[in-house]
Order: sequence, then structure tokens, then C-alpha cells
Amino acid sequence: MSGTATREEAQARDAADPLARFRARFALPLGADGEPLIYLCGHSLGLLPLGARRLVGEELDDWAQLGVNGHEHARRPWIPYHENLTAGLAALTGAHPGEVVAMNSLTVNLHLMLASFYRPHGRRTRILMEAGAFSSDRHAVTSQIAWRGLDPATELIELAPRAGEALLRLEDIEAVLEQHGEQIALVLWPGVQFRTGQAFDLARNARSVRARGCVLGFDLAHSIGNVPIELHGSEADFAVWCSYKYLNGGPGAIGGCFVHQRHADAQPRDRHVGALPGARLAGWWGHEEPTRFLMEPQFLASAGATAWQISNPSVFAAAPLIASLRVFMEAGIGALRAKSVALTDYLAALLEPLAPHIEVITPHASAERGCQLSIRIRAGAARGRRVFEALGARGAVVDWRSPDIIRVAPVPLYNRFEDAWLFARALREVLAGVS
Ligand SMILES: Cc1ncc(COP(=O)(O)O)c(C=O)c1O
Repeated sequence: MSGTATREEAQARDAADPLARFRARFALPLGADGEPLIYLCGHSLGLLPLGARRLVGEELDDWAQLGVNGHEHARRPWIPYHENLTAGLAALTGAHPGEVVAMNSLTVNLHLMLASFYRPHGRRTRILMEAGAFSSDRHAVTSQIAWRGLDPATELIELAPRAGEALLRLEDIEAVLEQHGEQIALVLWPGVQFRTGQAFDLARNARSVRARGCVLGFDLAHSIGNVPIELHGSEADFAVWCSYKYLNGGPGAIGGCFVHQRHADAQPRDRHVGALPGARLAGWWGHEEPTRFLMEPQFLASAGATAWQISNPSVFAAAPLIASLRVFMEAGIGALRAKSVALTDYLAALLEPLAPHIEVITPHASAERGCQLSIRIRAGAARGRRVFEALGARGAVVDWRSPDIIRVAPVPLYNRFEDAWLFARALREVLAGVS
């Protein structure tokens, strides 16, 4: 398409886009010429929702004016602050409101969930995850295995794509479960793979894992705010995510966690039962709010996933996310996904004529990807790196993932069809000029 597609056609698509007005609700990083950069990096750090400035400012004002009384009397009282995020997170993850909670950050939440849900017993001691998982996930898993006195070298099963392939096949996951299922205590799987952009069918994945009696957790770092998610219906045991990518919560934003209702229901409120899957590690913020400040030794769990909270929420890491989730709810998740599919399909089509020089390793079918496309330069990693740097010099903000991938994500909330067109032109010109 890029041979014939014109900038005017891209602009016409933007003019017809019912979500185009949301771009003005975000701060667009500018280049040296004062023009917006071609920002296609929402898979790494989403842009600042302008409404966040007011919300953070209000929290600072309330702190200045109320001091400690802000805990109860701020315009958004700080004690139940996480509740400001519940409805939006539940809507984006297909969870019941009681099943989600905003807390901590991703790897911390993963550790907490593994502490609760990785319960090796008898022959069931192993963890299955993908080879090439995000390093932090692997560090969390191997250290959890070792922390229990087991050996990660034997207890961790890592499933790699077939030789010569970049993507994982669900039937291969099912084959591993068939072969080793009775030894697998827990499966940790991504919703969208961070390097390839491959989106998995969570429901199918969950059916196969649960049929083998294994516990299932999802890392939704690259899924939430990007692809449709149905956590409750999938019956996954837990899920974790960060909020600084597609959720636009800002650097180090508060992360999130899902615990399926059946686990909250199974846990007695007034004691900890280590033998139950999902056994809580507790702190005072998991204690029910009405009696929390009596400071009594007896624990009494609050309802649902909030019982897994440990510490009081970080207000300044949460305020920008409130602003962003409001924008998501206003735009509508269905409309965002429809635009996302159209925009990424458009970018993929623009890149097709460059196929002699590049390989898009992300699946072609929109059901198997979110908005990210992962591009490999055929001439090798060294040239790929030079291409990436030349793109940056031309104002395209994308990123590089070792060993040889350029990740590009047109985000439906703030990217235009014209951004896709500008990127494709920049890549075409760079490929022609960079040896
Ligand atoms: C898939 C995945 N897992 C884990 C992390 C680590 O996140 P955090 O630093 O919030 O723990 C990231 C961060 O980008 C990620 O993409």
C-alpha cells in the first residue's frame, strides 16, 4: 500500500475517525522543530493524559491544606484511594470489581501472587512459562522456586517457539501440559508477548491449563488497555499488570492485580490458611476498613482482591491513572479496539512493500495481536540497530528490544493514521539510506 497510499488518504482516515478528538487530551512530546514527534511507543510508556495534571495538583493542594486529615477529608479521601481505580480496571480486564485491586508494581505483585498461588506439593512442583519471557518475570519465578528450596534448573519448564519460528503455538502449550501436566503446579503466561506482540487466546489457554489441574496466572503488562480481556470468565486464578504502558498511568505508576472471586470466597476472613491455594500474605491494608484503625492483633480480611493489599496505596502513583481511566471509559473499550485493529492493519499494510528488507514477526491476524508490530531488519541486528537509531533521528519514537527487534505501536487513544503513514515513510527512507 505504501507505494500508492498518500498522506492525504491517511489524513482523510483521521478526519473520519470518531476517536480522533482524544489525541488533544494527551501531551504530545515535541521535536526540535516544535512539531509532535511520531510517538509510537505506548507499549513502553504511554503519554501523559492532560487531566492528570489537575488530579495530581488537587492531591498536592489537599495535602498542603489538610495534612493528615486528607486521609479522610481530601476530595478523594486517601484511605480508600485505590477504589477510584476499581471500576475502570474491572472494565478493562473483564473482572468483577471485587476481583481487582490497584497496588504496588508489576513484579512485586507477581511475587505476592506466586507466594499465594505457587504451592508445590507431591509431584506437582514445576512452573511452566514461555522461553524468552520478560526478564523480571523469569527472575521472579526462578527466585520463588529457589526460595522454596527447589532447583529452578529442574522445576522451571520454558516453552520456546519451534525451530525457525518466532511465535508460540497454543497446541505446543497443550502438548507440554499433556506431557508434564501432573508435575506442573503453576503456569504463568503473558496476555501479549512483549517482544513479538503475539496475543494469546486467554480463554483457550485457561481451559487447557485448568483441565490439567494447574494454577494459572497471567502477566497482562502488554494486554491491559490494548486488547479485550475477560479474566473472570476465563477462570484464571490470578493476573498482574503495570499501568505505565497502554494505561498511561505515568512512569512507575501503581500496578494492579486480579484474584478470582473463588479464592477470596475460599479464604476465611479471620485467619490465614496456608494450605489453601491463594493463601494471603497480609498487611494492615488487607484488613477491612471499618476496624483497621483499631489496630487490634486479629486480622479481618476486607472483601475480594483488596484482602491481598498489604500497604497503604501510593496516592501520587495512582492519581494520573484515575485521569487516564476516565478517558478510556469516555472513549469506550469497544470503540478503542475497533480503531486499534484498523490502525494497526493500516500500518501493517503500509509496511508490506518493505518486505524485502523487513519481517514483521507479529501475527498477521488482528485477533492474534494488539496494536504493537515487531519488526526485524532482514540484514541482521547490527543494521537493525542503525535503522532504529536513524528512525529516532527522524523523530520516530519507537524502541529496540534485544537482540534484533524494533517495536512500533500505534495507540488508538492518541495516534493518528497519519502517524502510521509518517512512520512508514521514515522507515522506507531510512532503509534506502542506511547500510
Ligand atoms: C511483561 C513485563 N513483565 C514485567 C515488567 C516489569 O515491570 P515492573 O518494573 O513494574 O515490575 C515489565 C515492564 O515493562 C513487562 O513488560
